[in-house]
Amino acid sequence: MGAAPRDHPRLFLFQDPIASFFYDLKPVEHLILWALFNPHQSCTTHQSFTAQTQLQLDHGSFFHGDVRNPEDLGNLPTGIELICDTSAQPSVVTGYANPLFDITNNGLGAIHILEYARSRRIPLIFWSSNRVYGADRLNALPRRETQTRFEYDLDTWNHLPVEQRPAGFHPIHGISEEFSIDGGQRSIYGLSKLIADAACQEYAQAYDLPIVVNRFGVISGAGQFGHTDQGWVVWWAIAHWFQLPLTYLGWQGKQVRDVLFVEDMLGLLDLQIKQIARFRGEVFNLGGGPANSISLREATTAMQEISARTAPITQTDKARQGDIVLYWTDNRKAAEQLGWKPQIDLRTGFTRIFEWIRENEAELRSRYVSSD
Ligand SMILES: NC(=O)c1ccc[n+]([C@@H]2O[C@H](COP(=O)([O-])OP(=O)(O)OC[C@H]3O[C@@H](n4cnc5c(N)ncnc54)[C@H](O)[C@@H]3O)[C@@H](O)[C@H]2O)c1
Repeated sequence: MGAAPRDHPRLFLFQDPIASFFYDLKPVEHLILWALFNPHQSCTTHQSFTAQTQLQLDHGSFFHGDVRNPEDLGNLPTGIELICDTSAQPSVVTGYANPLFDITNNGLGAIHILEYARSRRIPLIFWSSNRVYGADRLNALPRRETQTRFEYDLDTWNHLPVEQRPAGFHPIHGISEEFSIDGGQRSIYGLSKLIADAACQEYAQAYDLPIVVNRFGVISGAGQFGHTDQGWVVWWAIAHWFQLPLTYLGWQGKQVRDVLFVEDMLGLLDLQIKQIARFRGEVFNLGGGPANSISLREATTAMQEISARTAPITQTDKARQGDIVLYWTDNRKAAEQLGWKPQIDLRTGFTRIFEWIRENEAELRSRYVSSD
């Protein structure tokens, strides 16, 4: 007879910087962290991430390794009960510079993890991205412009013949799992995530493995070291706090995203971990949803109010390659199947980020504000 199942799995997380987020995760009995060995990242940044995280963890273990190297996986300890694959080169902007790196790192790396999971029959939760959907297809959805943002245009939608309405979109609810993944302009990063996303679905079916694919939109929260290419919400807050220059890249700053705060991501993870045995490559679109949608312009106003500081802002007409003008997540599948809904609103989430910045001002100043 096997050992009685525990409520709290030993969890293996392929990532270190957001480990502090996971520190509070209740169902995790023992967190084994994959502190990466990634030559493409700045050493100083990474080392201090690891050091900081290590200090915060009293029930975790670190193993250094690279998901591109299956031998590193083979050297991990036994007894891992669940894998959360959050590893990736996560920047759309960076992805264009070296496609083979993204495809190898994010695509093949995920397949190495799938092989590891398959050979040991370990369940897996995969951090996919809404960038698996093409920007051209998303940008063609009916929209209207207001003083501060773009919005989906319900009126135009209502007048569209039913056969012309793309599946997986509703102007109130947003983009669901049914939205087409066909077409280009999802970015090289998006391509690499799509490779991994599809591989997770395929392995789940081919090998009867418990796997969940979470297609996240913008994830944010205190503790994230945002910058211009990735983690824009925290970057926007840090720039306001230290009055660093910001730029609206295209669309006059009216481009819109929905923000999911990390506490809600952990709540979701908690629910998925408890039900992991029933999933076989299930895909979920996950984000802050329409209520947590915000444009850059609106984020500027909100952050000026909360911080009582302003950042100098310029704008360019040219948007970034493959950028999306408007996106919010249709969370209804997660609500129906998991009983999950984001709880943290924008005001609360932004306020927590500013509290974190205030508490860590000296360290953040040394990271973000040049001394010359
Ligand atoms: N932050 C978001 O808004 C967002 C949105 C959608 C999806 N995601 C996904 O969530 C995950 C986490 O993203 P993040 O924003 O926290 O980025 P992040 O850069 O903070 O985390 C990615 C981690 O993966 C590690 N990593 C990269 N290559 C590796 C390798 N070869 N071997 C081992 N580790 C490696 C990095 O060092 C880093 O620790 C990623 O998979 C990303 O694609 C993030």
